[in-house]
Amino acid sequence: MTTTNRVWRLRKRPVGELTDDVLSLEEEAIPEPGEGECLFRLNYLSLDPTNRIWMSDMDQYMPPVELGAPMRGVVCGTVVKSRNPAIKEGDIVSGLGEWADYQIGRAGFVNPLGDTGGVPVVDAFGTFAVVGPTAYFGLVDLGEPKAGETVVVSAAAGAVGSIVGQIAKIKGCRAVGLAGSDDKCRWITEELGFDAAINYKTEDVPAALKRACPDGIDIYFDNVGGDILDACLKQMNFKGRVPTCGLISQYNATGAVPGPKNYDMILMQRLKVQGFIVLDYADRYPEAIGALAGWMAEGKLKVRQDVVDGLENALQTLKKLYTGANTGKLMIRVEDV
Ligand SMILES: NC(=O)c1ccc[n+]([C@@H]2O[C@H](COP(=O)([O-])OP(=O)(O)OC[C@H]3O[C@@H](n4cnc5c(N)ncnc54)[C@H](OP(=O)(O)O)[C@@H]3O)[C@@H](O)[C@H]2O)c1
Repeated sequence: MTTTNRVWRLRKRPVGELTDDVLSLEEEAIPEPGEGECLFRLNYLSLDPTNRIWMSDMDQYMPPVELGAPMRGVVCGTVVKSRNPAIKEGDIVSGLGEWADYQIGRAGFVNPLGDTGGVPVVDAFGTFAVVGPTAYFGLVDLGEPKAGETVVVSAAAGAVGSIVGQIAKIKGCRAVGLAGSDDKCRWITEELGFDAAINYKTEDVPAALKRACPDGIDIYFDNVGGDILDACLKQMNFKGRVPTCGLISQYNATGAVPGPKNYDMILMQRLKVQGFIVLDYADRYPEAIGALAGWMAEGKLKVRQDVVDGLENALQTLKKLYTGANTGKLMIRVEDV
């Protein structure tokens, strides 16, 4: 085992789009686990839109990463030393950690991945750690889909959105996705089974929504906020639901972001708009993972990992999320397991 670690540290709070100086990759000594902790080697690092939020000091759902501290991330790794009786050397663990080759697994922050039921570790991590449960609880719990209803989802070829549309189909709904390229639109309709897709970059979104949702929208699963939220609000049906999952169109904003222009539709159509963070459902993760794994085994749910090699490429790769250069779940691979 090498004695040198590589750690990405937060050096500057981002303003606007991510720049190369917000993080620096530094060489340091490998830490020693204390009582109740383990040391693990990184296999996969999940790259998530919320990484940009954690780097900033905007109001958020967790404390921001401190300047100078290792960058926080959702990780999967192999245990090399353990002083935690529940975790042994060689275990694959996953949870909340750092952008670092070697790191300490603190009790309550990482847990053994356990039996993945035949699902490759990369897919189990990519799907079950964050985005699958987010899609599941946001759509099933907050969206309350009923067969025959129309579900619209934005960032539909992304990690969460691609799963939301497929769960909508499993629940007997019409699934319509908005995505930023024709290739993405083809993927979600031809391979994932969405009923319709809208390229929001080239089409007139209100007109395309009218065509794709002839009976109006019952559930709009919002991943992006902004103009797409407005267009969907305008076409919501009576007592429609809007699970507010993410607002990626405004994460790089430098000034105040205008509120939705069609806010009045919440009153007129008696809409239920509810924000959620997947961590709110931590105690119900087994339910979501059970359902997702079952659908994957039945061939009803397809997942796609967008994998880039090398921890040194983490910051450049993260930028892909904000330009739409990823399809499916974006992650860094350090070493396959
Ligand atoms: N609430 C929670 O607990 C929770 C958990 C996980 C994720 N999220 C949120 O869910 C959303 C999706 O996350 P993800 O991990 O699945 O990422 P993702 O969808 O795989 O990647 C982000 C996608 O957003 C789209 N996008 C970027 N800028 C946009 C813009 N200005 N307008 C419209 N679309 C834009 C891009 O696709 P296009 O090519 O289609 O533009 C990009 O591929 C994010 O808002 C994230 O913060 C929330």
